Amino acid sequence: MKAVATAPANIAFIKFWGKKDESLRLPANGSISMNLSEVNTRTSVEFSIDYKTDYVEIDGNVSEGKELERVIRHLDLIRSEAGINFKAKVVSKNNFPKGTGIASSASGFAALTMAASKALNLKLSEKKLSVLARLGSGSACRSIPDGFVQWKEGRSSESSYAYSIYPPDYWKIRDVIALVGDVSKKVSSTEGHTRVESSPFFKARLLSINHKIKEIKHALKTKNFTKFGEIIEEEAINMHSVMMTSCPPLFYWTAKTFEIIQAIGDWREEGLEAYFTIDAGPNVHVICLEKDVDMVKRRLLQIKGIKNIIVNKPSFGARIV
Ligand code: PMV
Repeated sequence: MKAVATAPANIAFIKFWGKKDESLRLPANGSISMNLSEVNTRTSVEFSIDYKTDYVEIDGNVSEGKELERVIRHLDLIRSEAGINFKAKVVSKNNFPKGTGIASSASGFAALTMAASKALNLKLSEKKLSVLARLGSGSACRSIPDGFVQWKEGRSSESSYAYSIYPPDYWKIRDVIALVGDVSKKVSSTEGHTRVESSPFFKARLLSINHKIKEIKHALKTKNFTKFGEIIEEEAINMHSVMMTSCPPLFYWTAKTFEIIQAIGDWREEGLEAYFTIDAGPNVHVICLEKDVDMVKRRLLQIKGIKNIIVNKPSFGARIV
């Protein structure tokens, strides 16, 4: 009763920020993302009658407290689907630092869902796997399907899931991640989501979001990179404005984040077409066409204080290894 799965992190182009149902992790709005080829989680899950308790290890550290409870809650969900109550040993490894704005909870819960359901021999559809992953961490539902992904907000647990809108090889765009921080963030996204209602801008954000989803889908369909880039930058600023105006405010950006944002604007004026997006952390995801990757990397290397650069292609979703 053992299985191993890998799942990619994903970058949101239209963001999930705020929930309409906290316990079901139903998002306030739909979102659009791309799975990332070079940042993933590999998780093995083994159920056994011999285990007396659930054991969870993430990146070599034995989980305890809230982290452990969250994984156990998720295992319970999958155990109840299978009607089995054996305890499990979970060993999970990220190939990138967790808690820095690269969605480790997304890849983590997608890999856990995939491995645990396979270990229990559940034959689940992609939709069902996406629903289950969402219950672990909202954006994890988008790390199940392949490539470019849409998460339908839904009105119930079963109708809120993600599906592929284009395969990974549909469009040769790249996400060059400029890592500026590798310390775990102070406020988790789970906590951050609960603050949205306190921002006076949140209602305004929701008024335009469905139109934005339509527009970005059109930009994807027509491979209009300029339009696509303009939408993702506006959207990242929009979400971070809600974060910064929440009570208490959430500042995920650092001075370095802002320096990179400004540099990207300068590059564009000089003819290098790249755009930024940022999730719940200080790292900047620089989105460009494949042909411009080397130039983007060269420009980033000129900025002092960037700790690492990771070039991602669009990727497949979660897989059994
Ligand atoms: O899935 P969560 O609860 O970690 O929230 C993800 C929030 C953002 O990364 C900021 C946006 C998104 O859509 O991924």
